[in-house]
Amino acid sequence: MLDHKGFDLWADGYDKSVGLSEEDGAYPFAGYKQILNEIYNRVLEGKGKAVLDLGFGTATLTAQLYRQGCAIWGQDFSERMIELAKKKMPAAKLYQGDFSKGLVEALEQNRYDAIVATYSLHHLMDRQKVHFLKNLLPLLNEGGCIYIGDVAFESRTELEIQRGLIGDEWDDEEIYFVVDELLKTFPQMRFEKFSFCSGLLSLKG
Ligand SMILES: C[S@@+](CC[C@H](N)C(=O)[O-])C[C@H]1O[C@@H](n2cnc3c(N)ncnc32)[C@H](O)[C@@H]1O
Repeated sequence: MLDHKGFDLWADGYDKSVGLSEEDGAYPFAGYKQILNEIYNRVLEGKGKAVLDLGFGTATLTAQLYRQGCAIWGQDFSERMIELAKKKMPAAKLYQGDFSKGLVEALEQNRYDAIVATYSLHHLMDRQKVHFLKNLLPLLNEGGCIYIGDVAFESRTELEIQRGLIGDEWDDEEIYFVVDELLKTFPQMRFEKFSFCSGLLSLKG
């Protein structure tokens, strides 16, 4: 699994490499732009404009929301990603921190209309995902929502089928979302499939 230094090295070439995989409709980024667009539209349709982005990377999503007047907070552990994102969103409050250890304190003090995480939380183990999401829910303002766009499957069986089809390209170090397992803890979670390997999970407070 890439640590923060690995992401520092990937940062400058990140947009290009995502673009290539997305254009091919290939794993892991098939559906990436559609998912980000959908989250963008839903956040702007929402009541408020306070947005927290977890693992914002080069700020592909949040820089667009920032341009539309959203107030952006974020946490990422890569110094280089933070530098790149800061250039696009100078007034955003961006913090360096490993979310496997939770949110940095300053972010815990605030409340958000939307909490977004695209292609980042698959770095958490399944039980860490559940724990983290439980801790995020109370940080939502009334009517707020958590949006997760990522590699995701409806069931473990579906994940295993795709793992077999994808073969050597499959990244065993990433821990993808399995929706029916998460529904046991979060029955209100909604899943919309965007490609054979990706989807949008939304979780209201
Ligand atoms: C694949 S990129 C996704 C970036 C962006 N959200 C997007 O959709 O293009 C994953 C991002 O999550 C960050 N990240 C991964 N694991 C993390 C962790 N444990 N704590 C904080 N940030 C993490 C990486 O530094 C990177 O910026």
